[in-house]
Amino acid sequence: MQLREIDPARLEGREPYFLITSLVVPRPIAWVSTVSADGVLNVAPHSYFNVISSNPWILHFTSTGEKDTLRNVRATGEFVVNVVTRELVEEMNFTSADFPPGESEFEWAGLDAAPSSRVAPPRVARARVAFECKVDEIVSKGNGHMVFGDVVVAHVDEALLVEGRVDPHLLRPVGRLGGALYTDASGDVFKLPRPTWDEVRSGRVAPPGPR
Ligand SMILES: Cc1cc2nc3c(=O)[nH]c(=O)nc-3n(C[C@H](O)[C@H](O)[C@H](O)COP(=O)(O)O)c2cc1C
Repeated sequence: MQLREIDPARLEGREPYFLITSLVVPRPIAWVSTVSADGVLNVAPHSYFNVISSNPWILHFTSTGEKDTLRNVRATGEFVVNVVTRELVEEMNFTSADFPPGESEFEWAGLDAAPSSRVAPPRVARARVAFECKVDEIVSKGNGHMVFGDVVVAHVDEALLVEGRVDPHLLRPVGRLGGALYTDASGDVFKLPRPTWDEVRSGRVAPPGPR
């Protein structure tokens, strides 16, 4: 083995992004649902996501730059993290297009929203795990805005639970690898190119249909 020494300060253009996101892998995906100050429902994937505290439960996701999700959590102080599993991966990818603020990804993707119990943003109805969160703090570092959320209630599909824990074979969580590559817990690696708003609006990329 011969290790290459990389000085991140010497990388140029988009290289720092492409390299670090292929090195810190696989990343779990928070599919974050929010509602805007005007009441528009939003849902967008964030793979800069993890647990910060297990007692009490605190999660974090990071927005790279200012996006609708970040604006909404700043305005309302609430969000829901929907966990991305294999059967939802196409829908998740579809909602990552650069939809303008007034357009709801829920509607464009044909996703049903289920009312949350304790926060205003809804859950993705088909998500088998979801965390309702209240914003604890937002901290900006580099080009990232880290949103910390206190979990006020979680929802877990009963069918996933074995002796009080979630069986990963049943959950089939999806992790993001570098670029358009993903993996699930089976070891399979697959590619999903990201659509743009232009492709969605013009119908060149259609929402995933029922499978
Ligand atoms: C799998 C996946 C993971 C992503 N992770 C992040 C992330 O951690 N942070 C981020 O800012 N954008 C991330 N993105 C891009 C956003 O989802 C994308 O910019 C989206 O349009 C933001 O939507 P919004 O403006 O409604 O918040 C990711 C995209 C994909 C497909």
